[in-house]
Amino acid sequence: MDLLSRPRRLRGKQALRDMVRETRVSKNGLIYPVFVKEGNQIKEEIPSMPGQYRYSLDTLAYELEKVQKSGVRGVLFFGIPKEKDACGSGAWADDGIVQKAVELAKKEFPDLYLITDVCLCEYTSHGHCGLLHGQNVDNDSTLEVLAKTALSHVQAGADMVAPSDMMDGRILAIRNLLDKSGYVNTPIMSYAVKYSSAFYGPFRDAAGSAPAFGDRKTYQMDFHNRREAIKEAELDLAEGADIIMVKPGLAYLDIVREIADRFPVPCAVYSVSGEYSMMKAAAMAGYIDEAAVVSESAVSMFRAGADILISYYAKEIAGYITEGRIG
Ligand code: PBG
Repeated sequence: MDLLSRPRRLRGKQALRDMVRETRVSKNGLIYPVFVKEGNQIKEEIPSMPGQYRYSLDTLAYELEKVQKSGVRGVLFFGIPKEKDACGSGAWADDGIVQKAVELAKKEFPDLYLITDVCLCEYTSHGHCGLLHGQNVDNDSTLEVLAKTALSHVQAGADMVAPSDMMDGRILAIRNLLDKSGYVNTPIMSYAVKYSSAFYGPFRDAAGSAPAFGDRKTYQMDFHNRREAIKEAELDLAEGADIIMVKPGLAYLDIVREIADRFPVPCAVYSVSGEYSMMKAAAMAGYIDEAAVVSESAVSMFRAGADILISYYAKEIAGYITEGRIG
């Protein structure tokens, strides 16, 4: 056989395969989402996300310890307040649940990088991500409230804020208020390319944040669109975003590649709740090899161009890297 090029030559031994590997993954890029809930002695499993929990402040350290030990470097906090109201005032309360969690984590786990999700949907009685005018989510009046929320997180000690509301102009509003308040060096990771997705279902269960009427299609993106992702990323960068996030992950890897190639900033991917729940359910049913499928999925997101991966499987992925299953 007269074959000069034989791709199989580079697949002959594990050491060689490892040597010529194109995508290298590291624990340094992993972020773990954590749900903190007002109350005491809470560690409740989220029914649609087996293995994921809501913690109160007095049980949170137990989880953060595990995150730190796994080698995951950052956490992303979501708050679940006791009381909700029409304007989501719990979001920016000085003694709000996320603010308290950040204070505690900063004191007890100074080496963990603390990121907060900035949004109103967990705090509003109607479950929408912004303020309502009638049945409409009003863009411009929401901006001030989001900026206040971001500032209160940073004042409590957050290292970075991550707005997920999808209002137009929120990066600029947050950047301006942070700068005016002396936080010019606090980065913003923008959920810039956030699609309106059924993959968020289990999260809304976890955070009690499903909209009471309608849906989020007037502010989150239509999943038929690709060009619009570029527009969203461009706008957010012009407004001062430091990191661009694409969300969800697995069904959107074409978009990840596009954003990673196009913009000279770090690209984050959020592998969302529904992705976790699907893999977990299949694993629990014995249909898939969980470690193998989670590993392969994680690598696919880095291969698509992600620098950062936010995942409910972050601790496990860190373990797979330690074991040398991926790397
Ligand atoms: C808040 C927010 C959501 C998620 C992250 N931030 C829910 C939503 O937009 O409905 C989803 C995360 C996940 O599904 O894991 N706006």
